[in-house]
Amino acid sequence: MPFPRPAARPWQGFGLSSADGPLLPLPLLRLAQQAHAAERAAAIAYRGHRCCFRGRVQRQQIHHIALEEWRHRAWLRRRLLPALGVAPRPLMEAAYLLLGMAIALTCLLIGPFWATYFAGRLEHGNGAEYDRLAAGLLAHPQLARRFHQPLRHMARVERRHERSFFGLLRHHPLLPPAAGLFGWPRRRWAIDTLAPPSAAVGGQAFPQWGLLPVSAYLQRR
Ligand SMILES: [Fe+2]
Ligand SMILES: [Fe+2]
Repeated sequence: MPFPRPAARPWQGFGLSSADGPLLPLPLLRLAQQAHAAERAAAIAYRGHRCCFRGRVQRQQIHHIALEEWRHRAWLRRRLLPALGVAPRPLMEAAYLLLGMAIALTCLLIGPFWATYFAGRLEHGNGAEYDRLAAGLLAHPQLARRFHQPLRHMARVERRHERSFFGLLRHHPLLPPAAGLFGWPRRRWAIDTLAPPSAAVGGQAFPQWGLLPVSAYLQRR
């Protein structure tokens, strides 16, 4: 289905116009457009990712995540973007489409561990971006009333995706060096999953919300 033509001035025509420009900063509008493009890239990338696994449970889990990405994209296209007065950007859409296809192919080459690792790391950023969008809308009460809660919900769904991927990796011997190299995971849920909050590893409690020390993985396995 062709996308509606973008407005010449994206903020016009949806109750957001002002003489001086958009009521929302342009970076936020771009972020919403980027999220729309990235959701499809993720859903396509997960097709390749799913094929890395032989197990039915893992494949279904990734398939379910991909379906949620399609749902996010549909919601952004039907609800949020029109309300912000912007349309998907064709060039950005094309670039992300290619990116999604490239990642899907790469997944087949790099295998299940690295495909899942980078998927989890990307999902971590997705949750933060929806939170940023939700926070940005607070400056506009009318939009905040309609979209703040749904965006926060989407951020939570992205974090659930992140946890799912972490769950697939948590006992893999490559996770400690990967976490040391690329800095994910670093969320509290990862710490809680590995040890109760009061637990001490090597005589020292896990730092909450800090980067999970590589030694933590090594000692808990
Ligand atoms: Fe999503
Ligand atoms: Fe996601």
